[in-house]
Formats: sequence, C-alpha cells, structure tokens
Amino acid sequence: EKGGYEHFMLKEIHEQPKVVRDTIHSVLQNGKISFESVGLTDEEMRNIQQIYIVACGSAYHVGMAAQYVLEELTSLQVRVELASEFRYRTMTLAKNSLAIIISQSGETADSLAALRLCKEKGVKTLGIVNVVGSSIAREADDVFYTLAGPEISVATTKAYSCQLVAAYLLAMQFAKARGEITEERFAALAADIETIPEKIQRILEDKERLQWFASKIVNIKDAFFIGRGIDYAIGMEGSLKLKEISYIHSEAYAAGELKHGPISLIEDGTVVFSVVTQSALYEKTISNMVEVKSRGAKLFGLTTYGNYAMEDTADFTVYIPKIDNLFAGSLSVIPLQLLSYYVSVGKGFDVDKPRNLAKSVTVE
Ligand code: M6R
Repeated sequence: EKGGYEHFMLKEIHEQPKVVRDTIHSVLQNGKISFESVGLTDEEMRNIQQIYIVACGSAYHVGMAAQYVLEELTSLQVRVELASEFRYRTMTLAKNSLAIIISQSGETADSLAALRLCKEKGVKTLGIVNVVGSSIAREADDVFYTLAGPEISVATTKAYSCQLVAAYLLAMQFAKARGEITEERFAALAADIETIPEKIQRILEDKERLQWFASKIVNIKDAFFIGRGIDYAIGMEGSLKLKEISYIHSEAYAAGELKHGPISLIEDGTVVFSVVTQSALYEKTISNMVEVKSRGAKLFGLTTYGNYAMEDTADFTVYIPKIDNLFAGSLSVIPLQLLSYYVSVGKGFDVDKPRNLAKSVTVE
C-alpha cells in the first residue's frame, strides 16, 4: 500500500504533482475559474471586505502564505489566526467578513470550534478541507475540497500543497470577481499555476543532492529558518516539518526579526536555512544571511534559478524552477519536505508516526 516507497511520507511527497494538478483542475479549466462546486459566488466575493483565515499547524502556515497572496491580488483585509487562540479572543468580527477554515482532516477540535463560533456570530464560513464528509466540511457554509486523497503520514505534505494552490485559486477568483486584476495578469497567473505540478516533479527528480545534505546534518542539535514574506511562511512550515519528524530543535523567524533577539543564538556551526524566492526581498534577506554567517552559521540557501546573488554567502544552495513570486512557496517547500524526511530516516526514526503526535488533533 506504500506503492513501493519505504514510507507513506515519501509516497505522499511524490504524489504531489498529481494531487496538486487535480486540485487546480477541480476549479480551473481553460484559463477560467469556476467556483460552482465550492458555492461562494462572485457577488458574495464582491461584498466581502474582511477575511479571517483560521487553522492549526501546517494549515495555519498555508494561511500565512495565503494572506500575502490575497493582499497582493485584492484590496481585502486579511487576518490569519491560530484556531486555538482565535476562539478564546473577545474580538468583534467585522461585518461583511468571511472566515476561511483550513483543515486537512476536517476534524481538528480547535478549528471546528472556531468555525462554530464564526457561525454563531453570523460570519459566513468557507472550509478548505481534504476529508469529504468531515465535521468542518459538513458544517461550513461552503467547501473547497482539496483532492489530496487519504494522507497517512502524520507530517502533512500533499494536503499542505493542495491547500496552498486552493488558496491561490481563491485569491485569483476574488481578484477577478472584484475587478481588481487585469485580464492579462489573471491569464498569466492561470498559465503559471498550471506549471506548478511539473515543476514540483522536477524538484523531486533532483532529490539526491538533498539526501546528501541531509546526511551531513543528522547530528545537529538546532536549526533556524529565515525568510521574508511568503518565504517566512515557508520557513515556518520547513521548521515544523523538521522538528516534527527529526526531533531537532528548530525555529523559524522573519529574517528582519533576527536582530531583535534570536541572533544571539547563532554560534559556530549553527545551521540556518534561508528561503529567498521573493525577488523584491532578495537583498534584504541576503544581508541577514551575511550577518549570521559572520557569526559562524552554516547556511543552506533556497532560491530561484537565475538568482545567483547568494552563491558567495550560502554554503549549500538549492535552486527551484522560476515561477511567479506568488506561487514560489509551492516549489520551495518541496526541498524542505524532502530534507526533513531524509534527516528523520537518517536518524532511524518512525517517520510516519512521530512520537507524541496524532494525525488529527481532536482534543483542545
Ligand atoms: O487536519 P488539520 O489540517 O486541521 O491539521 C492541522 C495540524 O494538526 C496539522 O497540520 C499538523 O500541524 C501536521 N502534523 C503538520 O505536519
């Protein structure tokens, strides 16, 4: 049932081109997006002013990336909230708002409670859910189903990737319905989003280098991930993946925050992963890389082909295919998934069932 792979996680990583393509095509065809299967209408999209994205864990990281994309493409106000915090806040929810609950299982207790709270307060809800018929799918007003198929590994990979593209498509349709995007830009994004599956495939074909790098870091005690904008969101996910299955202490920071405290943790040999795909922010993050390097950090750089600016700074660089900045997270996350996988395997851990964790967190 593992389809010839040693672990479900590796199998699911390799399923990503297919399931991401399926999820994209569930609403995008011939350059046009239809949300008929989801329910949310163009008119509703025009009237919404505020979005609350509520989720836990990796789904929350998708929300972080989605916020940047929604803000870039639309004039919507967007807040991203951890479900376990959101539900206990005494916060006035804006009129004309939409709560987007992202959940693979559709059963996460805090996310479900947050959904119910929104409904009680009269806020319209949209679930981005993978499991058909799950509680969140049943109770949300509208549902965008990701088509990842069953995900067995506790560490999410393919469901996360499907949630990301669902968020892009949602942002694109919001922009379109609200007349906030030109036809040309929409068409360019629609063409570009279609290239994600084959580009993920290309990254997967080049996994040996990552496997080699992973073998060099199995014994590290700490790791840091830095990035700005979407790259920060991906760093958060990379860091969670690593700690979850390899038990290496790991933290992700917005690169600009380093100087406000965390840089004191950097010492000779500390491994720092830098995600640098957002062209407008290249220089700023690279200057943060230089700062940690001068304190002895060992730098892993993750950037886009064509950006060779960090070659002199990073000790090991991985390049992802070129793509619109907004979609880069779908590619940059793949090497980070593979890396955590290989580190976990290298340490002899139970990759699919890491200690202390459950696939679906149904307690609060
Ligand atoms: O089923 P959900 O998407 O609601 O689960 C949310 C988190 O529990 C989940 O993403 C968790 O963080 C993963 N184990 C991360 O790999």
